[in-house]
Amino acid sequence: MGAAAGDRTRVPHVTTLTPMAELRLEDIVALCKRRGFIFPASEIYGGFANTYDYGHYGVLLKNNVKGEWWRAMIQERDDIVALDSAIIQNPKVWEASGHLAGFTDPLVQCLGECKKRWREDHVREQELGDEHAEGKIVCPQCGGELSEPRQFNLMFETYVGPVHDESDRAYLRPETAQGIFINFKNVLSFARRKPPFGIAQIGKSFRNEITPGNFIFRTLEFEQMETEFFVPPVEASQWHEHWMEERMRWYTDLGIRPDQLRLRAHGPDELSHYSSATSDIEYLFPMGWSELEGIANRGDFDLTQHAKLSGEKLEYVDSGSGDRFVPHVIEPAAGVDRAMLSFMVDAYDVEEVEGRERTVLRLHPRLAPVKAAVLPLVNKDGQPQKAREIYEELRRLMSAEYDTGGSIGKRYRRQDEIGTPWGITVDHQTMEDDTVTLRDRDSLDQSRIAISELAEELTRRLGEPWTSPKLGAAA
Ligand code: GAP
Repeated sequence: MGAAAGDRTRVPHVTTLTPMAELRLEDIVALCKRRGFIFPASEIYGGFANTYDYGHYGVLLKNNVKGEWWRAMIQERDDIVALDSAIIQNPKVWEASGHLAGFTDPLVQCLGECKKRWREDHVREQELGDEHAEGKIVCPQCGGELSEPRQFNLMFETYVGPVHDESDRAYLRPETAQGIFINFKNVLSFARRKPPFGIAQIGKSFRNEITPGNFIFRTLEFEQMETEFFVPPVEASQWHEHWMEERMRWYTDLGIRPDQLRLRAHGPDELSHYSSATSDIEYLFPMGWSELEGIANRGDFDLTQHAKLSGEKLEYVDSGSGDRFVPHVIEPAAGVDRAMLSFMVDAYDVEEVEGRERTVLRLHPRLAPVKAAVLPLVNKDGQPQKAREIYEELRRLMSAEYDTGGSIGKRYRRQDEIGTPWGITVDHQTMEDDTVTLRDRDSLDQSRIAISELAEELTRRLGEPWTSPKLGAAA
């Protein structure tokens, strides 16, 4: 019989090299390119501003982020239902929501040499320390004079049908939320729900952003994960509190270090036109504290507006008492791409192991694109066949890889960089006693385990609570 997991063979000496403060966004960009997570879009044509393509590991990681969000919203609760609404809706939706009139940014143009366009609020923030500060600002690139600001709508326009008439104009949605509000009545009747209840949706949104966006932090198209939670008006504040706590917990349960996260309440001059209170969950990215997710109390703004323009009654009527009210809405609105970026930034580490440098993504195992890599030590003596057998068995349960290319050290480095938590090595001993080496990505602990126990052991580890090994590590 083989040895059980936990028979430690050896743990190498490790020195951490890259404290968080020194991490640059470019390091993440380089890793994403090197390992096929994310590429600049239209690269062979010189790229396309603020647009990216996701490669194999990027897709897997992104799917895991979305999977964890669905788990928290649907699987672990019984008061939320799912929706997948259309991206192009009747333009009246955007009239009712206020996006046609008010979804604008103040745009200024350089009148000097470079003629670049900027968001006025961003330049004020950068040059005067506050986006609302009065005072002279100049072009951040060439120091030229700036034009007077003009309001610029962020919605992408398109035309439905062959004629480009005003009457055929439509918009790509700038948020998934409105698709939810206009389905309120459907869900109320067909899902037989009663407030408090929520409708959750993940999908692409589009914004004609003017300013460069720090990699995938701000892009022209992006995915949102939004829940509109409909509540009796008197319960709105208490549900707002509930959702702030729940959403902070989601990030920390998935391994984000609590000291890299904060909740920041919007000041009165920052609030969106629909919101009576909003708090942002912010993450300490390499470029500073920046918004990951907004949690807004939208009141009855959206249902009232859509009722007004559509002529439909959008309210809840209690079938017993006949009481009726327009529910208030609490909205946790997150970005998939931003969440993914924060998980990668938080997980990134460079350390020295016995004199050699290794880069490692210490992702939560549930987020890791690949959970287990099965590697034959040498490409002979029946080891590749044995490794393939183990891989075939494991991949029925979790995302796994079988890798024979290059030296074992090189293959481990590759797996460390994509964040694979467990490496399984088939060696000469495997051929004698049906045990393998199980290597832990973070501790580098290597133990021998019977092949017959491997699947159960990895499934157990995947289900366990996890905290980042960077927590408490010397920064
Ligand atoms: N329905 C409310 C709403 O859309 P928001 O704060 O504008 O609120 C919610 O967007 C989240 O969507 C943001 O916190 C961010 O994570 C993500 N997001 C917004 N604009 C983005 C962009 N241009 N690129 C990437 N993510 C974006």
